[in-house]
Amino acid sequence: MARTWTPSSWRTAEARQMPDWPDPAAAAAVEAELRGFPPLVFAGEARELRARLAEAVHGRAFLLQGGDCAESFAEFHPNTIRDTFRVLLQMAVTLTFASHMPVVKVGRMAGQFAKPRSAATEEQGGRVLPAYRGDIVNDIAFDEAARRPDPERQKRAYMQSAATLNLLRALATGGYANLHQVHKWTLDFMARSPWAERYAEIASRIGDALAFMAACGLSPETVPQLKGTEFYTSHEALLLGYEEAMTRQDSLTGDWVDTSAHFLWIGDRTRFAGSAHVEFLRGVVNPIGLKCGPTLSADELLRLIDILNPGNVAGRLTLITRFGADRVEAHLPALVRAVQREGRLVLWSCDPMHGNTVKSASGLKTRPFDRILAEVRQVAAVHRAEGSTMGGIHIEMTGQNVTECTGGAIAVTDEALADRYHTHCDPRLNASQALELAFLLAEELAEARQARPAAAA
Ligand code: PEP
Ligand code: CO
Repeated sequence: MARTWTPSSWRTAEARQMPDWPDPAAAAAVEAELRGFPPLVFAGEARELRARLAEAVHGRAFLLQGGDCAESFAEFHPNTIRDTFRVLLQMAVTLTFASHMPVVKVGRMAGQFAKPRSAATEEQGGRVLPAYRGDIVNDIAFDEAARRPDPERQKRAYMQSAATLNLLRALATGGYANLHQVHKWTLDFMARSPWAERYAEIASRIGDALAFMAACGLSPETVPQLKGTEFYTSHEALLLGYEEAMTRQDSLTGDWVDTSAHFLWIGDRTRFAGSAHVEFLRGVVNPIGLKCGPTLSADELLRLIDILNPGNVAGRLTLITRFGADRVEAHLPALVRAVQREGRLVLWSCDPMHGNTVKSASGLKTRPFDRILAEVRQVAAVHRAEGSTMGGIHIEMTGQNVTECTGGAIAVTDEALADRYHTHCDPRLNASQALELAFLLAEELAEARQARPAAAA
């Protein structure tokens, strides 16, 4: 990668998983228009997130990243956004309490529209059409016109991202995220959970802590931090024409910032040596993520770290591991050891979703809750054994009561999957499964905290 970086230098590298626009001139015209649209986030916000993530690298904060696998035009609704935000806050309170650390909240929201696919085409009943690549590219309906990549869709994705982000900013700072309120919602969830007893202790201790703080005069009225929260956005930087158009030079520092989101990541299918996606993201100042799946070797990982974070800046690079339960032990230790041997500062986050996708008896893509949990536990155990830290979690979830992943306390059965299966791509945890995961993760984090030397705890 000796080439000079520019926002368009990715164009001469190998770009996989990008649509072939039927009319390249039309795509270029849309990109030119996008270049004149307002930025969605500011450089200062991206730098602030990088500082928060640096705390997580040093074991003093925890990253919670979650949202839809794919946002869609059809599911665009304020209640959907609010409910996903709400579950993320509930999870964050639970995790903060257990870990005694701030939780950095990052939504897979306000821009998560482009999807990598395992095949470029899809066959149904003998007909072959281009694969669905996310609403920013084409339509999910299995129909020739719908599947044709249409660059105009990028403008709708931008508008939806802007409106979503606007609502998220209001929800985060306008009083909705009041800590006492969030705790009340969590108690409500507890009352309905068959595992209420198991969670009762955590919930009642959070209640005690809040009551103690209130008695000391620390209330949402007196301490602004209790009334609002910081919330950041993220998506896979897959559609590079769109990302390039949203990339602007910060007037204060001269840095290039991808203003489509605070945090961007490179998917497992586009992180190969020489990839256009790696080339693009190496040049922007945003904190970035790299998905690490079973085919990534330790040497390759070190080479990618060299390219993506040559200055070894803490908070710049998050490694999001996604192996699948029972494959963690075979892959993760080698990566952790290589990173430690070379003294690289990275944040290790666990994506327990993408390695655990299976087909149900009825043919639907699903993920068993037990497998998701097993991967989280295995990853935590490996980091503990290697003397490193699992500093974050990356999940596909929604605040809606969908039936896409099987299992959980209010068990979704194989037969029930079709009842409310709405995802445009991968199966998501529903609200109660997501919160349940937070409670179980809280147990892990509390254990890790108790294992730390007293001075650090
Ligand atoms: C995703 O996060 O939706 C995704 C496609 O993940 P991966 O690149 O890890 O397969
Ligand atoms: Co996914």
